[in-house]
Amino acid sequence: MGKKVAILGGGFIGRFYAESLHGQRNRDRVSVVYARREETATRFAQDFNIPYWTTNMEEAIAHPETEVVVVGLPNNLHLDAVLLCVKHNKPVLCTKPLGRNAEEARQMLEAVESAGLFAGYMEDLCYTPKFLKSLASVKSGAIGTVLWAKSRETHPGPHSEWFWNIEMAGGGAILDLGCHCIEIGRNFIGKDIRPVEVMCWADTQVKPIDAEDHAIGLVRYENGAIGQFEVSWTFRGGMDLRDEVMGSEGTIWTNSFLRTGFDMFTTGKSNAYVAEKAESSSGWLFPVGDEVHELGYTNMFTDMFNALESGSACAETFYDGYIVNAIMDAAYLSVKSKKWEPIVLAHWRGQTGVPKMSGYVDYDDDHYFIKDEIMPNGDIKVILKHKTSGLISETVKRAS
Ligand SMILES: NC(=O)c1ccc[n+]([C@@H]2O[C@H](COP(=O)([O-])OP(=O)(O)OC[C@H]3O[C@@H](n4cnc5c(N)ncnc54)[C@H](O)[C@@H]3O)[C@@H](O)[C@H]2O)c1
Repeated sequence: MGKKVAILGGGFIGRFYAESLHGQRNRDRVSVVYARREETATRFAQDFNIPYWTTNMEEAIAHPETEVVVVGLPNNLHLDAVLLCVKHNKPVLCTKPLGRNAEEARQMLEAVESAGLFAGYMEDLCYTPKFLKSLASVKSGAIGTVLWAKSRETHPGPHSEWFWNIEMAGGGAILDLGCHCIEIGRNFIGKDIRPVEVMCWADTQVKPIDAEDHAIGLVRYENGAIGQFEVSWTFRGGMDLRDEVMGSEGTIWTNSFLRTGFDMFTTGKSNAYVAEKAESSSGWLFPVGDEVHELGYTNMFTDMFNALESGSACAETFYDGYIVNAIMDAAYLSVKSKKWEPIVLAHWRGQTGVPKMSGYVDYDDDHYFIKDEIMPNGDIKVILKHKTSGLISETVKRAS
């Protein structure tokens, strides 16, 4: 049996969620939609063939048809929506960012856990086909120990007025896009490795807003690994979603949106939708084959509904959303102080006291191996460090 779902929010993400839930002859169905405006709710209900619509949030949650609630509302409404799900004992999936700050996220985490309620954090970019394959490779040891995980999400800015209102959104590009990048890095580095401190630059370079429209941050983990996020609401050229993972034994680069191997030229005859945040519908374009799947929504709902049915945890939980909010709180502090700021965690369930990683490799009894390289003349240079004196030396194996 599939699940009957109430979607809260009839906007951009609500539509992606409904498309994903109803896609490919899926057995899960949206049975109730809540939107603030009647016009939005009725149009949404009609477009997705949804039997019930309402402009009353609590009514949608409490509706007898509702088995799971999907929260796709502006950031300032996530906490209220989740607390109403707890009140009516309805399992809840909440979009990103979980809260506008760690305090809101903590309240949501504690409320669902003390009620024993299933709660998923809808971090879709940790469910894209490329991400899942990359993560499986990392977990199998294919690239060794992860040293650096960089994730970028940049686009020309969000599509609704509330994102640009710092009160409603809670922040700018860091909160909106950094949450994705931080959780991507955290997955690659290891969710049980404690994120310790953050150094972040942010500025409002272009837009007439109070929040930051551009930021770059570093998240240092207890084992010495580094996460890096690059986010912007002022990037021109579409939506750039790219990850780079550097390990002691290998590297992964993924590009999930622009230049994915699907290039198209048009004079602009149709003027139709191309892909999220595409800035043009003429010239050379970079369409996305199956946006709902390639952005992770389909794998995300599959994982979350399977977990709900089997009574297990899904891959992205409210706890993960809380950790991400705590990292972003430290990022905002660092922007102001221009210093590394500690990440304050009221809840930490991973390892503690993990030593700094070490990649020392013995060359012989007396030396550590640093590196070797084949030179243009075919000789092989080997660079070594003496274990006790610390002396760096090189030997050359001549080409025969
Ligand atoms: N990749 C992703 O996971 C992703 C992508 C986009 C948005 N989101 C998240 O989804 C949430 C909603 O974003 P969106 O892009 O759908 O926004 P949106 O403006 O397109 O839609 C928001 C909807 O919320 C409802 N609403 C109820 N009260 C409202 C109020 N006071 N003001 C405005 N809308 C109100 C309306 O039905 C509205 O259509 C945000 O938390 C955002 O961060 C996630």
